[in-house]
Amino acid sequence: MLHIPVLLEESIDFLIQDKNGSYIDCTFGRGGHSKLILNKISSKGFLSSFDKDPDAFKFSQDFKEKNFKSFHDSFKNLDKYFKTESVNGIIYDLGTCSTHLDEPDRGFSFNKDGPLDMRFNNSDGITVAEWLEKAPKKEITEILYKYGDEKHGKLIADVIDKERKNKSIKTTLGLAEIIQKNYPEKTKKIHPATKSFQAFRIFINKEIEEFEKSLQISKEILKRGGVIVTIAFHSIEDNIIKNFFKPSSINYPKDIPLNNKLEKSFKCIAKKIRPSEDEVNSNPRSRSAIMRVFEKI
Ligand SMILES: C[S@@+](CC[C@H](N)C(=O)[O-])C[C@H]1O[C@@H](n2cnc3c(N)ncnc32)[C@H](O)[C@@H]1O
Repeated sequence: MLHIPVLLEESIDFLIQDKNGSYIDCTFGRGGHSKLILNKISSKGFLSSFDKDPDAFKFSQDFKEKNFKSFHDSFKNLDKYFKTESVNGIIYDLGTCSTHLDEPDRGFSFNKDGPLDMRFNNSDGITVAEWLEKAPKKEITEILYKYGDEKHGKLIADVIDKERKNKSIKTTLGLAEIIQKNYPEKTKKIHPATKSFQAFRIFINKEIEEFEKSLQISKEILKRGGVIVTIAFHSIEDNIIKNFFKPSSINYPKDIPLNNKLEKSFKCIAKKIRPSEDEVNSNPRSRSAIMRVFEKI
């Protein structure tokens, strides 16, 4: 199954303020947002897309529009390609594509058996299996608390440590079963490995560091009047966005107090937009999405 883009019309309506402008889709995925951007900009407008996943990049090569260029790179490297104040709008649709979860070989899903990988760029860096083989118990515990908000982080790190002494943990179902067997609470609603898989994925892909670095660059390469649109899927991502824009925004969402003494370079033009009931019904993956939009002033 392909990936269904989330908050598609809403996000692109905010993004495109000038049909002749230059735009960046930082997370091409399967190109849902990129396709609509290309439909809405004129032939004088330009779209550049990024994705660190080789499969996503391959997919982007099927887009033949003359005013489109795609890069197989992390969005943390935008400054290699763009000058200061040269871009009219930048969009981030964070997290995984449905295709990552549908393809067992990529090792993202606790429901499908495959190698315990979870790298977006599976031609670079180490897999979750390789990391779990050597990581100190304390580090595993910290990652589970920090990126999974997993209250049983210590217990899970202990059982991983016990298991790996007998046999390496090499598969997604292998890890999911260890967690399920030892999880103190029995709940049918969510799989006990949900938070652990999220935590390990965020860690192995350096998601937080790369996103923070990219936002810093976006702030510089965006023209005045241009916008940054973000779609986040969990509170860790959303908190980064809120904290990043907090010191420099006016009209900042009331849930975080604004320090009026700091320089204000952004205006919050959409605070916490959620998908409609219809969208959630037709695409359940969209239910946790939160969109925010900031304009450079
Ligand atoms: C939710 S999907 C995007 C879906 C896309 N908007 C669409 O409509 O098809 C997120 C994508 O971001 C990519 N990604 C994650 N971290 C990245 C990074 N640091 N740099 C570039 N791409 C990244 C993932 O590989 C994934 O393909």
